[in-house]
Amino acid sequence: MRTATFATALGFAVSAAVAIPRLGGVNTAGYDFMVYTDGSFDGPGTQPPLYQYGHFSPQGTNLYRLPFAWQLATPTLHYYNEVVQTALATNAYVILDVHNYARWNGEIINQGGPTIEQYASLWYQMASFYKNEPRVIYGLMNEPHDLPDNSLWPPAVQGAINAVRAAGSVSQYILMPGSSWTSAAAMPTEMGPYLLNLTDPAYPGSKERLLFDVHKYLDYDNSGTHTNYVTNNTDILQTLVTWLKANGNRQAILSETGGGRNDSSCFTMLGEELAFIKNNYPTMVGFSAWAAGAFDTTYILSLTPANYTIDAPLWDYAIRPNLPPPTYF
Ligand SMILES: *[C@@H]1O[C@H](CO)[C@@H](O)[C@H](O)[C@H]1NC(C)=O
Ligand SMILES: *[C@@H]1O[C@H](CO)[C@@H](O)[C@H](O)[C@H]1NC(C)=O
Ligand SMILES: *[C@@H]1O[C@H](CO)[C@@H](O)[C@H](O)[C@H]1NC(C)=O
Ligand SMILES: *[C@@H]1O[C@H](CO)[C@@H](O)[C@H](O)[C@H]1NC(C)=O
Repeated sequence: MRTATFATALGFAVSAAVAIPRLGGVNTAGYDFMVYTDGSFDGPGTQPPLYQYGHFSPQGTNLYRLPFAWQLATPTLHYYNEVVQTALATNAYVILDVHNYARWNGEIINQGGPTIEQYASLWYQMASFYKNEPRVIYGLMNEPHDLPDNSLWPPAVQGAINAVRAAGSVSQYILMPGSSWTSAAAMPTEMGPYLLNLTDPAYPGSKERLLFDVHKYLDYDNSGTHTNYVTNNTDILQTLVTWLKANGNRQAILSETGGGRNDSSCFTMLGEELAFIKNNYPTMVGFSAWAAGAFDTTYILSLTPANYTIDAPLWDYAIRPNLPPPTYF
C-alpha cells in the first residue's frame, strides 16, 4: 500500500526527469576489510582516507563504490556516513555496497540464514537514512556465490527493492546482484533470467532504475587475485550487452574490475575493457575499478595514490582515459 502511493504520487514525474549519466570511478574499500566470503566479519573495518575523493573527482571520477560489512550496520553505520557524504560532496554518485556475499556469519539469506525480512530491514533503514540523496545507488549485495538454490535469491532482492521504495527512497537507482560472484559472464544465463522479472514498485511498468550489477576481472579464473592478464573481456561483455538489449533495453554497471597496479600486461587489456564500457553507454552505465581506499600501495590491485598524490601506473594508462570528462571542478 505504501509503495503504491509513492508510485502514483511521484513515480512518473521523477522517472521522466532524469537519466543516469555515464559513470566511471573506483571502489574505496575499508569498511569491508575482514569480511570473509562466508559473510562473517572480523571487524572493525578501516575508514577509507577522505582525501581520495578530492584526489580522484577532479580527474573525472563520478562514481565511488563504498563497501561495508553488514555487521557494521547494526545498530549504526559508525563513521561510514562521513565517507559517503565526503564522496557525494564532489558531485559523484555513490554505491552503498553491503559486502556480505549473500550471507551473515556463514548462513545464506533465505536459505537457512537471515530471512528476507531481516535482509530487507537493512535496506529499509539505509534507504530511510539516504532517501534525500539522489546520487546514492543501492548496491543490494556484493558477490552472491555458491547458492544451493539460485531461485531463492531473486525473492530476497525483490524484498530489498520493495524496502528501499517503502522507505521513501523513490528516485535512486538500485543494483541487482547475480550469482557466481555476480559474474558478468554468468549473468545472461544463471541469475539474469530471474532478475529480469523483478519489479520496481515506485515505477509500475518501468524497470529503468533497476540495474544489473556485474563484476569481471581479467585473469584466467576471473578472481582478480593474479596480475597475469589473459583477456580484455570484450567477448563476454558483448554477450551481456546483446542480452540486455534483447530483454527490454536494460542496463548494467561493471562495479568491480581491475588489474595489477604496475603490471604492464594489464595496461592494454584493462584499457580495452574500459573503452568497451565507455563505448557501450547507456547499456553499460559505467564502471568502478577495484580498488583504492584503505589499501596501501603494496596490495597488487591497489589504486591508492602513492604519497597521497601519485596515481598507480594502471590508473594513468587504463582507467583515467576512460573516465567521464571532468565537469565539476
Ligand atoms: C519471467 O517472467 C516471464 C513472463 O511472465 C516468464 O515467462 C518467465 O518464466 C519468468 N522467468 C523466470 C526465470 O521466472
Ligand atoms: C613500474 O614498473 C616499472 C618496470 O618494472 C618500474 O621501472 C617503475 O619504477 C614502476 N613504477 C612504479 C610507480 O612502481
Ligand atoms: C579485445 O581483444 C580482442 C582479441 O585480442 C580484440 O580483437 C579486440 O579488438 C579487443 N577489444 C578492444 C575493445 O580493443
Ligand atoms: C614518497 O615519499 C617518500 C618520502 O618523502 C619518498 O622517499 C618516496 O620516493 C616517495 N614515493 C614516490 C612514489 O614518490
